[in-house]
Amino acid sequence: MARYLVTGGAGYVGSHIVLALLERGDEVVVLDSLRQGHRGAVPPGAELVVGELGNRKTVEEVLAGWRFDGILHFAALSLVGESMREPLRYITENVGNTLGLAEAAVRAGVMRFVLSSTAALFGLPDRIPIDETEAMKPVSAYGDSKLMAERGLEWADGAHGLRSACLRYFNAAGADPGGRLGEDHDPETHLIPNAVNAVLGLGPPLTVFGTDYDTPDGTAIRDYVHVTDLADAHLRVLDKLKDGPSCRYNVGSGTGASVLEVIAAVERAAGKPVPYSLGPRRAGDPAVLVASNAKLRRETGWEPKLGSLDDIVGTAYAWRARNLKGYRGLAAETAA
Ligand SMILES: NC(=O)c1ccc[n+]([C@@H]2O[C@H](COP(=O)([O-])OP(=O)(O)OC[C@H]3O[C@@H](n4cnc5c(N)ncnc54)[C@H](O)[C@@H]3O)[C@@H](O)[C@H]2O)c1
Repeated sequence: MARYLVTGGAGYVGSHIVLALLERGDEVVVLDSLRQGHRGAVPPGAELVVGELGNRKTVEEVLAGWRFDGILHFAALSLVGESMREPLRYITENVGNTLGLAEAAVRAGVMRFVLSSTAALFGLPDRIPIDETEAMKPVSAYGDSKLMAERGLEWADGAHGLRSACLRYFNAAGADPGGRLGEDHDPETHLIPNAVNAVLGLGPPLTVFGTDYDTPDGTAIRDYVHVTDLADAHLRVLDKLKDGPSCRYNVGSGTGASVLEVIAAVERAAGKPVPYSLGPRRAGDPAVLVASNAKLRRETGWEPKLGSLDDIVGTAYAWRARNLKGYRGLAAETAA
């Protein structure tokens, strides 16, 4: 049994990792401001501290309050478009909070640190699938903020021996297959929940951005990785850091799905058509982004168990269809 601090554990990806840690018998303390997350997303059994990561005193108090074996850091600003309008806020928050937390961790003697990083740090890649040797040339302030955070952690390792794993997620998607957790963002910018919301009448019709890409059906192709598989990757790198060096991995299913394929999968799950219209490309959106997960598989034994698009979309649809108001519909949310 070990004890972990999970920042952002009331958010989408973080809550699924909290669940996976609890299920294998670890103790978890969540630090989350609930700015974007939900009290009802924190699985029972985890301790929730509501607090702001930018507040040094809060972070120090949490690290003094328990003895942690490691930190998993999910709390961040993560909207690409917003980051282009407010780059300084993104860089200040994402880099400052990550490195402030790393500094406090070193002082408290917590020497394992896992960072949620992103495929956005590769920008417009030269090669597909994207492996860890790809040049890191982010084209958004969000992507750059994660790259700077990764670099800061390299310095923390060199100077203080803080061992870190940075997982560059491609598109986290799906929901807990047990139906206990799901994805509930406001605003929602991800394709799968937006297609699900559209088919359930909870959101506007979907817009397909770009139909003239050089792909089989003309729409953009992305790599969707099931959030429960992502959770498994976190457990594996956390264990690897116990006596291994710092590491960096791209985490994706290794295959791509087009926007129209995602829409077709949502229609299979819902049994009815997704309302959508066709629109122009968005600036800066490449045709294809697919990860190579070969290094992660080779070095940790990870493999996606819920890798099919129907698994991913089916679990996302099932959670939302049962929770039409998302976490706002849960008693725990209002009881707070
Ligand atoms: N969802 C994806 O597809 C994806 C892809 C690549 C990378 N990521 C990264 O994974 C992480 C989690 O993503 P998500 O989709 O679960 O996001 P999310 O917004 O659902 O969760 C983030 C959580 O962090 C909390 N938080 C944010 N800033 C905070 C602060 N300063 N202090 C305390 N709590 C704070 C929020 O309240 C929220 O609960 C992020 O770091 C994101 O950049 C996500």
